[in-house]
Amino acid sequence: MTFAWINNIRLTYTDTGVGRPVVLIHGYPFNRALWTEQIPALSNSNRIIAPDLRGFGESEASPDTSTMNSLAEDVALLMDHLEIPRATIGGLSMGGYVALAFYKQFPSRVRALVLADTRASSDTEEAKQTRAQQAEKALSEGMAGIADAMLPKLLTPETVSKRPEIVKFVRDMMLQTKPEGAAAALRGMAEREDQTELLSKISVPTLIVVGSEDAITPVADSEKMHHAIDGSRLVVLDHAGHVSNVERAQQFNDEVLHFLSHS
Ligand code: MLT
Repeated sequence: MTFAWINNIRLTYTDTGVGRPVVLIHGYPFNRALWTEQIPALSNSNRIIAPDLRGFGESEASPDTSTMNSLAEDVALLMDHLEIPRATIGGLSMGGYVALAFYKQFPSRVRALVLADTRASSDTEEAKQTRAQQAEKALSEGMAGIADAMLPKLLTPETVSKRPEIVKFVRDMMLQTKPEGAAAALRGMAEREDQTELLSKISVPTLIVVGSEDAITPVADSEKMHHAIDGSRLVVLDHAGHVSNVERAQQFNDEVLHFLSHS
């Protein structure tokens, strides 16, 4: 297990492969295992760094709110630790919120962006209230109830009924999340800023990928980012929901590999 002390938190990460560095940032409430199918496929031609964000997987939790800016700063400090000045930054969902916050704070450190199943807009008031309730629920009841309620929104109905190994994989990841880490990230997502204005300033190659049946960050959110980011490429993966990299791993990998070799 590889770890580094970042902002007084013990962060665990995977660092494998040789080539141009690519940082993969998982979503909520997952961990770096989200990239299980991507890491071997992409690390033949790239150096892949996949952290467990603070409070997730094997990384320590912090009692503070995990703002998207603070999570992005953790990533920048991890890159410093690994002596990586510049990388392709990829993130799925909350990982995409962190990737956009990273670009805003450290644009010169971004070679290219991969924005998967994510959005640029901030939370509605209703969504903020739901996050607060979810944070309380995680702290008082643990992750099982949250995991069971989220599963049908994360995966397509077809995956839920026909691919039990994926259901188990995604559920297990959620159960590994520390309730205090989940609560800190929920509070951080609720207060994240709207990054819509940033999109037109993005001047690096950008790949946007989304599952056609994504129920959490629907295709329309990706289309908005695609129209606003000059020269971006949008790929909609059929038969995939919110964790499109898990449900359509081969297609996701092919698209990312093609993008990485042309950016
Ligand atoms: C995620 O997958 O990271 C979260 O579902 C995103 C969100 O809740 O906005």
